[in-house]
Amino acid sequence: MENLKNTTKNGCIIECQNVTSQYGSFVACRNVSFSVNKGDYLCIVGANGSGKSTIVKTILGLIEPKNGKIIRQTAQIGYLPQKTEIQRDFPATVKEVVLSGTILAQKRSNFGIFYSREQKQQAQNQMEKLELLPIANKSFRELSGGQQQRVLLARSLCAAKDLLVLDEPVTGLDPAVTDELYTIIRKLNQEENLAVIMVSHDVHRAVQNASHILHMDKEVAFFGTTGEYQKNPLYNDLSHVEVCQTHLCTHCGSDCNASHIILGQHSH
Ligand SMILES: Nc1ncnc2c1ncn2[C@@H]1O[C@H](COP(=O)(O)OP(=O)(O)OP(=O)(O)O)[C@@H](O)[C@H]1O
Ligand SMILES: [Mg+2]
Repeated sequence: MENLKNTTKNGCIIECQNVTSQYGSFVACRNVSFSVNKGDYLCIVGANGSGKSTIVKTILGLIEPKNGKIIRQTAQIGYLPQKTEIQRDFPATVKEVVLSGTILAQKRSNFGIFYSREQKQQAQNQMEKLELLPIANKSFRELSGGQQQRVLLARSLCAAKDLLVLDEPVTGLDPAVTDELYTIIRKLNQEENLAVIMVSHDVHRAVQNASHILHMDKEVAFFGTTGEYQKNPLYNDLSHVEVCQTHLCTHCGSDCNASHIILGQHSH
């Protein structure tokens, strides 16, 4: 991982050059190249297991790439991991969960036992922005799935000065809450010029909201503007995919906790 100030073009926040990542000897993504500039909204689409989360974790520095190079122009990145990786029964209040996001924005040397006044103000601002103040003292584990996602979004925003990275933030939420979250994210992107990388299985909303699309199939199947993607046959192939909108998967009839893509046959 490198933070090289002068090697990428102006306005570039992340540049991923020919990156390959593995779990042991298993190659999860191969030779991936793309870049994200200031103000971009990149949606990463692709089937289950196509390497979306792996490439996200690699650009965040959570996985060391086997090959290739990642150039990061910022350390101020907010991250909301995929649902399966988040503890939902965490015994803390909404306020405490949001406040914990400010730790991610601090330099190591600033770590302390107590939150500073700035950290508390930052958490307060994010809770206000996402209209969480009325439930600030409620227990996180007693919230609905949609409320929890809103809290976790506020938490990730505490660290997101330049870039917000969201891995399937709406999976399992109902259509109204899904629309609401997409609206909030679009507003953050357009009004605060925050660059966004979002993993999504909802290709319809992806093309409605994003400026750029990265379609993964272990390798890069497509990377470019949303307009170009809509002319690509890959878009037509994916655009008939139905996205499960409920906790109860309509295909297998249970809370399968998967990514809820329903093609001809179930993919998990
Ligand atoms: N910790 C891990 N150890 C070993 N293999 C892994 C690990 N995490 C992911 N994989 C494998 O790497 C491949 C890519 O996984 P990844 O999670 O990146 O896919 P994805 O596109 O995010 O899928 P989904 O849409 O289901 O979230 C898959 O075959 C998966 O089984
Ligand atoms: Mg994933």
